[in-house]
Amino acid sequence: MELELRINGVVESLEVAPSESLVTLLRRNGYTSVKQGCETGECGACTVLVDGVARPSCVLLAAQAGGCTLTTIEGLGTPDTQHPLQQAFRDMGAIQCGFCIPAMLLSASALLNRTAKPTEDEVRTALSGNLCRCMGYAKSVQAVMRAAAVMRGEASAEYTPSSDVGSSTGRQRALIGTSAGSATGKQFAVGINASLSVIGKNIRSSNAEKTVTGRANFAADALPKGMLYGAVLTSPHAHAIIRSIDASEARAMPGVRAVLTYSDVQRVPYASGGTSDIQDRYSLDYTVRYVGDRVALIAAETLELVQQALQNIHVEYDILPALLDPRQTLEANAVRIHAE
Ligand code: FES
Repeated sequence: MELELRINGVVESLEVAPSESLVTLLRRNGYTSVKQGCETGECGACTVLVDGVARPSCVLLAAQAGGCTLTTIEGLGTPDTQHPLQQAFRDMGAIQCGFCIPAMLLSASALLNRTAKPTEDEVRTALSGNLCRCMGYAKSVQAVMRAAAVMRGEASAEYTPSSDVGSSTGRQRALIGTSAGSATGKQFAVGINASLSVIGKNIRSSNAEKTVTGRANFAADALPKGMLYGAVLTSPHAHAIIRSIDASEARAMPGVRAVLTYSDVQRVPYASGGTSDIQDRYSLDYTVRYVGDRVALIAAETLELVQQALQNIHVEYDILPALLDPRQTLEANAVRIHAE
């Protein structure tokens, strides 16, 4: 069906499947700044503004957003006209890997649209739906507070780190530490050479501008036209032999390009640990050895198709005794998971 959305001020007519989530609709139409993380509404990486409210777009059907006004990070500010929030995150180094930053900036902007002078607690609450996997929150909370001050006209837009070293005064700064290895535990000082251009100075990340404007691409953001989607059918059993597997229904689906089971691939052992000498894994095998072990691989033209195709592979298992505790493996008659 056709859906009309106003995205970043531009009205777009987009073709959408009834069950498609808003995040997949946006990403396949080029808005890859909207990240796909947990897909269950918990991580917040997919946050967009829906009529000004920060919402996780993975748990919203695209159809529910019909007629709404959507804002992604591209609508907050462009590389040339960055929003004070983007400038503050960029200048204060409130970025590490950058995956959560576009969504975090949108949550912060929704807050600043509601209140010009938020407390630190209010900022923390506003960001609490955006899980950061590597940086933490201290810097981002400071950056939001700073952007709010700038928007109230209380501070200059140019950020000068208070601990900047090697400034125009050419001063040196001593790093003081405690010599843990010495008998006396006395302090030592390390001088920083002001003439150095990088060491001892706050340096803006070279990726910061791209990150805060949503142009930093991660591997999952490479969505070339015509690419196929893959999925893995996995074992529901901790240990079993596949008695029969019928993939004919999945293979017959228009748009499904390949379905592989153990009978389609050579049984070549390899080491799962990479450098280990123990070659105990197979791409696909007739034995499954843990819940989640690979049973079949599918490639299809769309995400929806690949998920439907998973339902159309029929497997019968002979369930075997499983090892559910490492101590069991030491017992004399322990079950052998790897027969060879
Ligand atoms: Fe939507 Fe995690 S991807 S909340």
